[in-house]
Amino acid sequence: MVSQFELQVPIYNAAGCKCTTKEDLNNIASSSAGAIQTKSCTLAKRSGNQPPKYWDNGTISINSNGLENEGYQFYLDYANEYSQSINASNQKPIILSVAGLSLDDNTKIITDTLKNNSIYALELNLSCPNIGGIPVSSDVEVFNEYLNNIISATSYNHSAKPIGLKLPVYTTRWHFEKVSHLVNKYDISFITCSNSMPNCLQFEHINNPGEDIMTSKPVILNKLGGGGGGEFMKGIVLGQIYQFRNQLSENVKIVMCGGIRYGMDCYEGQLAGANYFQVGTQYMVEGTSCFDRI
Ligand code: SIN
Repeated sequence: MVSQFELQVPIYNAAGCKCTTKEDLNNIASSSAGAIQTKSCTLAKRSGNQPPKYWDNGTISINSNGLENEGYQFYLDYANEYSQSINASNQKPIILSVAGLSLDDNTKIITDTLKNNSIYALELNLSCPNIGGIPVSSDVEVFNEYLNNIISATSYNHSAKPIGLKLPVYTTRWHFEKVSHLVNKYDISFITCSNSMPNCLQFEHINNPGEDIMTSKPVILNKLGGGGGGEFMKGIVLGQIYQFRNQLSENVKIVMCGGIRYGMDCYEGQLAGANYFQVGTQYMVEGTSCFDRI
């Protein structure tokens, strides 16, 4: 039985965007976002990739964060503290984004999180484009086995906590069919479409005063490339939502993540089949006022 993923206010932050530190999370807590989603966390604290890790020009972004986070226990402790300090009727649901580096790590994080009453839901991120290797969710056979192992090793099937999957961008009908089958088969409560677009490259050009030659360099100098987000992702993400909506069971919710800047973008997401909306680049650019405005 799928645990229903239900939010009263449908717009909140994408994992990865200003949601790593206590201060970040407190800012979201005091905004009009419908939920507080944490940075994708690992078993232990990580400092991630070498800087620069993030760039945007106001409408598109590139990130190569490399899962910099405080370690999952920090986020569970934050959730406990939050739920004890805020009147229950004013509390926002907290969604833990989980990106353990191995099956064992994910099993441990999920097992402990399912026991934590202050976390409302988990978003399992098996699609990070910034840590090298092939993301688990890009290979359907591997993905199937991975989910099967996680579900047998944890009490997920007996938990009332919704668990969702943050998916990468897929480009073939075959992938939509196979991944939908897995989501239906493993009673996944929601999917998030999509993680950032892997391997994006953006140059910046600097005019040196008094010289005829400009200097050009990639905004993120990292062999692993950078995940692209922002305006250009909207059409890509709408297509993902539309394809999945046609193949997923009705009770599986779809969260749109990519290219949301205005309320109209959410409306188009709804037309394609989305139920909820995460804001990434626009939240980085505008801050928490975007949740109110959108
Ligand atoms: C990162 O930490 O590099 C981003 C995480 C993600 O987008 O999956």
